[in-house]
Amino acid sequence: MKIAVAGAGYVGLVTGVVFADLGNEVICVDIDPAKVDAINKGRAPIYEPGLDEMLQRNLEEGRLRATTDLAAAVRESEVIFITVGTPPTENGEPDLKYVDEVARVIGESLNGYKIIVNKSTVPVGTGDRVRRIIEQYRREPHEFDVVSNPEFLREGSAVHDTLYPERIVIGTDNPRAAMKIVELYAPLERPMLITNLPTAEVIKYASNTFLALKISYINAIADLCERVGADVVQVAKAMGYDSRIGPHFLQAGLGFGGSCFPKDVKAFAHSVERYGLDPTLYQTILAINDARPRQFVQRISERLGGLQGKTIGLLGLAFKPNTDDIREARSIEIIRYLLQEGAAVRAYDPVAMPNMQALYPHITYCRNAYEVAEGADALALVTEWNEFKQLNFERIKSLMRQPNLFDGRNLYDPQRMRKLGFYYYGVGRGEANQHENGL
Ligand code: UDX
Repeated sequence: MKIAVAGAGYVGLVTGVVFADLGNEVICVDIDPAKVDAINKGRAPIYEPGLDEMLQRNLEEGRLRATTDLAAAVRESEVIFITVGTPPTENGEPDLKYVDEVARVIGESLNGYKIIVNKSTVPVGTGDRVRRIIEQYRREPHEFDVVSNPEFLREGSAVHDTLYPERIVIGTDNPRAAMKIVELYAPLERPMLITNLPTAEVIKYASNTFLALKISYINAIADLCERVGADVVQVAKAMGYDSRIGPHFLQAGLGFGGSCFPKDVKAFAHSVERYGLDPTLYQTILAINDARPRQFVQRISERLGGLQGKTIGLLGLAFKPNTDDIREARSIEIIRYLLQEGAAVRAYDPVAMPNMQALYPHITYCRNAYEVAEGADALALVTEWNEFKQLNFERIKSLMRQPNLFDGRNLYDPQRMRKLGFYYYGVGRGEANQHENGL
């Protein structure tokens, strides 16, 4: 099949490369000539395990190329994926200007029947908007269909998630278009669901919001656990054995960050409100999440009797492990509060430091966890990178001014840390925290 992918970001590039690998002819389109150039040279502008190799293979075998010329790519293709960004505007609603622009060019370039597949995360109703724009700009009465085909890939496992999706959702009112997209995905042999367009659009937001809800829910439970001397890690474990609940996304801690969850929940709250419904549930998910960094810093401050003149070491800055992405990372807020209250901040992250340097050039960046510990009054684990799991804590302790360990992701065993002589705080680990305080 001849495919164009408009927008060579995370979703677009991975989608394009995987479809090429399945034997299709793919043109990746982006407005950024540097990105296009890098792709044509076999260098993915983003890091994802397995992506570079797959990109190079498909370039060499002539199934993939990149261009800035969207109109030409549209004319050559039967299926056009829209995978451009939808950055949040000031009030949190997604900005659809890139989607609109792509739709306009598609309309102007229609030279036969085409299927336009929207993969960008867009508010419910955007499929109709794209249809209207294409109709408005089309020069000849060629037919076309708009399909919503949301992606569920995670950063760090984007290629894997695209090759082995747990479900493929195809939303369109025309069976002819649905069948064509089914054919495209058939080689993956994964469960497919054909729905109407708004249903597919709702599935995307309903899924992401539910995952965010699970995280905020367990964080709300964590707060209660701290008050009553319960351990949220065991609560979550026991809850997770119930197959109706499941064990995933129940890790209490500093909450969710990244380019999807915060933005999607905000956008969903706006959509719901626009349709005259009560957005409180979604706003509460965000409110619980927003409070996490402040509360964490508060715990550190309480322990140290204020933060003025204190040195705090941070382990991890990325919004989650195995990425250099710091968009909406909890570390950003944590650093902001620490600095506001007069603390000096030392930090180390295996890959995210250059990104954070652009935001906070004046904190101290270290070469490893041990350097972070030097002279610190407290050490705070912010991102649970593998390399932080097996640190030599005796050495860490000997380097610190005071052995205070604040575990923002409940990575460590509280008893072991206490035995090593640390004051240990874990999020929602009331039992462990109370023991330590001699209660
Ligand atoms: C997410 C969705 O998983 C994916 O389906 C969607 O397409 C895009 O958004 P991603 O943003 O890459 O993917 O990250 P994910 O691994 O889901 O983690 C999101 C955030 O939640 C991270 O900050 C993580 O630390 C946090 N998290 C996750 C928790 O705090 N607790 C958990 O139990 C799980």
